[in-house]
Amino acid sequence: MKKLILFVFVSMLCFSSMAKEGMWVPTLLEKYTIEEMQQMGFRLSAEDVYSVNQNSLKDAVVIFGRGCTGEMISDKGLLLTNHHCGYSAIQSHSSVEQDYLSNGFWAMSQEEELANPGLTAKFLDRMEDVSDSVFAGTEQLEGDSLQAKLDYNIRRIQQQASEEGKYEAIVKPLYFGNQYFLYVYQVFTDVRLVGAPPSAIGKFGGDTDNWMWPRHTGDFSIFRVYANANNEPAPYSEDNVPYKPKNWLPISMNGVHPDDFMMLMGYPGTTQQYLPSQAVDMIINQSNPDRIKIRTAILDIFSKHMEQDPKVRIQYASKYASTSNSWKRWKGEIRGLNRLNAIMVKEAYEADFEVWYMQNDTLEEAYASVLPQFEQLYINLQPYEKANNYYQEIVFKGIDIFKLAENFPRNDKGWNRLDGEKQGLVRKALDQKMTDYFDDYDLGTDQELFTELLRLLRADLDQSFLPKEFTDLLAKYNDEKLIRKVYQKSVLADASKLKEIVAEFDSKAIDKLQKDPVIKLYNGLRQHYQQNIERVYQDIKSNIARVQKQYMKGIMAMEKNAQLYPDANFTMRVAYGKVEGYQPRDGVEYSHHTTLQGIMEKYQLGNPDYIEVEKLKTLYETADFGEYGEDGQMPVAYTASIHSTGGNSGSPAINAKGQLVGLNFDRCWEGTMSDIMFDPDQCRNIMVDIRYVLFIVDKFAGAGYLLDEMDLIRE
Ligand code: ARG
Ligand code: GLU
Repeated sequence: MKKLILFVFVSMLCFSSMAKEGMWVPTLLEKYTIEEMQQMGFRLSAEDVYSVNQNSLKDAVVIFGRGCTGEMISDKGLLLTNHHCGYSAIQSHSSVEQDYLSNGFWAMSQEEELANPGLTAKFLDRMEDVSDSVFAGTEQLEGDSLQAKLDYNIRRIQQQASEEGKYEAIVKPLYFGNQYFLYVYQVFTDVRLVGAPPSAIGKFGGDTDNWMWPRHTGDFSIFRVYANANNEPAPYSEDNVPYKPKNWLPISMNGVHPDDFMMLMGYPGTTQQYLPSQAVDMIINQSNPDRIKIRTAILDIFSKHMEQDPKVRIQYASKYASTSNSWKRWKGEIRGLNRLNAIMVKEAYEADFEVWYMQNDTLEEAYASVLPQFEQLYINLQPYEKANNYYQEIVFKGIDIFKLAENFPRNDKGWNRLDGEKQGLVRKALDQKMTDYFDDYDLGTDQELFTELLRLLRADLDQSFLPKEFTDLLAKYNDEKLIRKVYQKSVLADASKLKEIVAEFDSKAIDKLQKDPVIKLYNGLRQHYQQNIERVYQDIKSNIARVQKQYMKGIMAMEKNAQLYPDANFTMRVAYGKVEGYQPRDGVEYSHHTTLQGIMEKYQLGNPDYIEVEKLKTLYETADFGEYGEDGQMPVAYTASIHSTGGNSGSPAINAKGQLVGLNFDRCWEGTMSDIMFDPDQCRNIMVDIRYVLFIVDKFAGAGYLLDEMDLIRE
């Protein structure tokens, strides 16, 4: 009896659609969610959110760069996104003399805006379910021939939709390949930087506050999309004019209040909501702990050297931030999943699945083997998952000198086929890579990473996953000797010698480099990985994907009356919830919003992630908040119970009337398990209040002229 109750309770928890869980396909709102959204206060129709017949909210939301979201906020192409999304663009215009990262940048006219080669803004023209065309003619096929036919169909659909390159068309699987959708984008390539606050505002709180609430980061930057005279995408040109988008978001000056309806539109990257218990077990007990252990070692070494040397602190700031970002999320994920009893919840759901199968004798037999196959496949995967994580984190990402080694050709076959001109281009590209690499490289730091991480690799992995030359080498040399005989003997550790080699790079140099002790060591590890780990690992993974597709099909059949949203796959989604705080732990209650006062309080702590900005302090002290404040306070950030993930950075937070009120940039740490299992009590996304953005633009930066372009709603 007890067990039964647990099952019922647990399966409700698992897939009964909680009001706030889910990342919904915009074309399916009418079918699935619009009613609930309206019950929660939303005043618009599904057609107002997504339509191909009229301008809709979707026309104002873009893919910014390679992994973020942005939105249109004026009829002259003004685009709002996060500071951390615009970061590399801002950085690329910064130098010691004009340090836009530290001081901020504000174009005071369109002429002063800065071009960013390579940066794009992609507008979704339309999306549609193309499952029938993708599956056409595949009914009798299996294995490789099935895949080949699917690929062929997908290519044809994409080619047709692209209209000779006018659009970028991409077909993506949903529900593990049980459905396919086509996405057609118009890609703009002239995207200019308009404004960014100083990092002490845009990155305020740094890694201390990352993934945390209460938060005070003014995480925004502003760009402008340009088009040719016909309002079409065009490469950068002085003749280009601001793009007039089909739609842009009106901005509400009325603020946000507890229980307000709130919606995000954007491009969430990856979630894994439908994993079996074995996979969740592996994440909690193996993959995350392994990766955390390695990155803890890396971060400790970074910290030590960054504390000792201010130059290293600047060089390694960005490496530290990106290494610690996932490290901190993985820790939160373990805690959150354990708190939810996630493994047990999944096991109970699997028991339901089994009962469902047994009670229905008309079902495909393939469902019977799904769970036993998972069981076996995850046992098989286990050692390879570990080895893969160690190689990825240590050999391919952790040690800088190995990343440098990866840039050089391993034999002269390709090189000899190039003509003189092309060879010159390769030399130039290599030289540029060297320059970038050595700019952010510190010998002492990397040497310590080299010995520490290689020892860890050796100690934690089974012998069979390591090349013999490697284990022999580590047995023979102590750390000091390893540095002297390998690292310091390598030309890769010597910037000026390496530059000389690259300047006269030819097939002789390639030969010589193959004898370099670091390159030899790296190539040995790499080859061993490819031959003894990668192939088996990928093979098991693709078998898991096949079983997961069948499992998903079963889940959808079993729950045909439930609303199951597909996992995030970096396509446009709508998610919604309410403005609310939460209780992170017993006895603690978090409010839904923060104010400028909290920034002043953090200034007192002496933490280098809380850098004082004189002018902001003055504005606070004189309470000079203009029309942006509320009740004598200046709002900064707020939380809502909206299901979001990486890629949602820069997503517009839209109120019940379809107006912009915030800019999404993070999630709360206690809720980071939402990529695997959502908890309406603990999962909160974090947004900058749009009034803080406007306050910084107008009062702080004096770029109030930008506000004249926007539709500010005051009633
Ligand atoms: N946690 C946010 C995200 O996942 C922000 C990351 C950038 N900031 C940082 N301090 N590392 O992207
Ligand atoms: N900061 C994340 C991003 O860059 C969003 C936070 C999250 O993972 O929800 O997309």
